[in-house]
Amino acid sequence: MTIHELRQKFLDFFTEKGHAIIPSASLLPENDPSVLFNTAGMQPLVPYLKGETHPMGTRLADAQKCLRTGDIDEVGDNRHLTFFEMLGNWSLGDYFKEESIAWSFEFLTSSRWLGIDPKKIYVTVFEGDDDAPRDETSIGIWRAQYEVKGVVADVGVAEKDEPAHGDGPRIYTYPKAKNWWPGAMAKGLCGPDTEIFYDTGLPHTPAFGPVCHPNCDCGRFVEIWNNVFMQFNRMEEGGSLEVLPKQNVDTGMGLERTAAVLNGFSTVYDLDVFQVMFRGIESLCDKTYGSDASVDRSMRIIADHIRSATFAIADGIVPSNVQQGYVIRRLIRRAIREGLRIGISTRFCDQIANVVIGQFGEHYHELEAKRLEIIAEFVKEEEKFSKTVANGVKELEKILEKGAMTSEQAFMLYSTYGFPLELTEEIVRERGGVVDHDAFKAEFEKHQELSRTASAGMFKGGLQDDSAESARLHTATHLLHAALRKVLGPHVQQKGSNITPERLRFDFSHPEKMTPEQITEVENLVNEAIKRDLPINCQHMSVKDAEASGALGFFKEKYENLPSLSVYQVGEDADWFSKEICGGPHAAHTGELGSFKIQKEEASSAGVRRIKAVIGQ
Ligand code: ALA
Repeated sequence: MTIHELRQKFLDFFTEKGHAIIPSASLLPENDPSVLFNTAGMQPLVPYLKGETHPMGTRLADAQKCLRTGDIDEVGDNRHLTFFEMLGNWSLGDYFKEESIAWSFEFLTSSRWLGIDPKKIYVTVFEGDDDAPRDETSIGIWRAQYEVKGVVADVGVAEKDEPAHGDGPRIYTYPKAKNWWPGAMAKGLCGPDTEIFYDTGLPHTPAFGPVCHPNCDCGRFVEIWNNVFMQFNRMEEGGSLEVLPKQNVDTGMGLERTAAVLNGFSTVYDLDVFQVMFRGIESLCDKTYGSDASVDRSMRIIADHIRSATFAIADGIVPSNVQQGYVIRRLIRRAIREGLRIGISTRFCDQIANVVIGQFGEHYHELEAKRLEIIAEFVKEEEKFSKTVANGVKELEKILEKGAMTSEQAFMLYSTYGFPLELTEEIVRERGGVVDHDAFKAEFEKHQELSRTASAGMFKGGLQDDSAESARLHTATHLLHAALRKVLGPHVQQKGSNITPERLRFDFSHPEKMTPEQITEVENLVNEAIKRDLPINCQHMSVKDAEASGALGFFKEKYENLPSLSVYQVGEDADWFSKEICGGPHAAHTGELGSFKIQKEEASSAGVRRIKAVIGQ
């Protein structure tokens, strides 16, 4: 089964169960300063899991684009992918454990769907502790599900009971570390989960422990689905649980990983989509996939990284030196380095990106729509990196003319010139020298420690921190938008926005630089609205009514098919200041913003200006 078939089956199944299929959100989180990329299917749905009304109803399903780059430089083995698709189904206060578990089991085992032998399926549930009770309900539901299929389903405790085998325990209980999402005591939306594992039938490796069980790392069991019963909000890290107004279900199935195990593959790279990319890579060098472990590793890195970058560029994330753009730059440059390593001597990333677009364009239309832009970005980045490499070689020659290369110098070439260590090593080796690897690593680690501390907040992943501060900045964005239209004219349209804990950034269409007077006028208008302490209200209405009411909304393709939308209005009905189609969250009153100040007004791209502003100063 290809990933395209599995994706379609999943969506078809949940359509039959009354779910609306929603499009994947962008890889770039909207109004979420705490993460660089979407890393889970539920991330774009946080406001709705917290209680906002979703325009498509209470049963949703999708395939969400996700990007995880924890330790980018270590990705590239046989299991990890930076980009992956997460299939998911959600209940927003609709069904709960009974349907969620029954449908998962039906999708996996029914001959109409995946038709997996139920005996190959093992599940885990939360064992309970002082903070939250054992999930007896899920245990009961699982038992009944297995019974119908004639499978004995005893409850087992990992490592205390018998090893997992056909007729032994099938439902294993674990503490929070394994069966609570997102993390044991993490802040925000959370709840017990039940994870579904597939038994590959591989023999247990005793090095991983005396007794095999679903969470054993020996490789016999592969987690394919996680059903989270999201019924709590933890007020602060380590703090107490608040019961949410609605009981939600949030599930996640890693598309590539599940397709791979169902096909009996030992690695996701055996999947069709990657194999097609390998054929493309092979045509650019004289190596073949599958004949040499180190060549395979390089080809996997190239395929994975270019796939990730292709999707990212389609979502508007272009290579740069900051934030998300920096991650994409590193992915592309690492792919180029691996290309050099296997002897590719031409520009190639754009060609592989074309293969990705061919493979995924049918489901992700943005890839086809942005083909030319994507290709142009790859070409630009690859040419830029070639120059970097050429400059690095010059520096390196200078160093070598003076004597042997020290590890500090090798590191300087890497950190200042972006020159890869492998290339330094290769050239030094050709001259009969050697770079002290351990000393280089020590330098590298010292540096990484520093940059990790600096970016810890950004890379930690996890849930959106829609703190009060980011809601206030979001409200300020609406006030700014309205004020710009009043001062500059109705041609002003929002082109993008981004909020970090410190500031807001707002891009809008306007042909020229704003004058200092215009900037002051906009600031004054926003500050007056703040002083009047206007209320902010959310109303639900049809697209037509929203437009008729004068609500702004420029991302039409996103919502034109939705039956109902939320519209945020600042100010009373008779005399509103701003009205926009938007998903929230917002402050309750403008007075909460304190004050508003524009720090910078600059060009963003042709015909688009960018404002950075702060509040509460
Ligand atoms: N949110 C859950 C996960 O990412 C389903 O595993």
